[in-house]
Amino acid sequence: MSTYNIEIIRLPVIDSTNNFLKSLAKDGVNTPVVVIADEQTGGRGTKNRSFISKKGGIYLSILIKSQEKGFNSTLITPMTAVAVSDTIEQIANINTGIKWVNDIYIDNKKVAGILCESVILPEDENPHIIVGIGVNLFKPCGGFEKEIEDIAISVYDNPDEAIKEEFINLLLKNFFKYYENIGSKTFLEKYKLKNLVLGEKVTVIQGENRFPAKAIDIDDNCRLLVELSDKSHKWLNSGEVIFEIKQP
Ligand code: BTN
Repeated sequence: MSTYNIEIIRLPVIDSTNNFLKSLAKDGVNTPVVVIADEQTGGRGTKNRSFISKKGGIYLSILIKSQEKGFNSTLITPMTAVAVSDTIEQIANINTGIKWVNDIYIDNKKVAGILCESVILPEDENPHIIVGIGVNLFKPCGGFEKEIEDIAISVYDNPDEAIKEEFINLLLKNFFKYYENIGSKTFLEKYKLKNLVLGEKVTVIQGENRFPAKAIDIDDNCRLLVELSDKSHKWLNSGEVIFEIKQP
């Protein structure tokens, strides 16, 4: 799979695989460690939202720690988005798009999301990074919850254990392939190519203020360039934009 010696922990249910790895990071465990749960009771998404995590999905977190001085961890989320997108396309032969910065889409519906968090230990130069990945691999038993049924999609309709195992193996292989080469940003071209936001109208959020803009470029550090209504340009980091994705 890779030159890494990866410890993999499988759990039937947990509050959040990210929480689980945060505790391990605080205890200073050796990395990398991967934890995979069939179900989460307190799954978390970005912007303090909850992430519904019923049986049928893959809930997986990876704990890594770079030894490199001044390691640029902001690239991990977009790099992971490409690894997830590649995995879905290779296994299921379905086209995916990436919504800057951390969501994977099929047919304008969300199929996967990524939540990266970090733990900094005292007197440690580089943080432990927790990369949380949630994929709607199979439709949950009884369907998606009412609040997300119009905006969520799964890769497959019916559960299949063999596909699930194949998916997990390939996802980890793709992730570590890009991670080992993160310095040369081998994921970047695909990240830009697959992005659904370029040319689209967006709403920029800054503090209490919201204003309309158009997304026009992504740079080599995966920041988003937007054009405001007065034609001025602004580079944005994650968490500052809402998109108006067109429905088909
Ligand atoms: C998002 O879409 O906002 C990000 C969702 C990230 C969900 C994954 S599932 C595994 C890991 N554990 C969590 O509690 N969250 C992440």
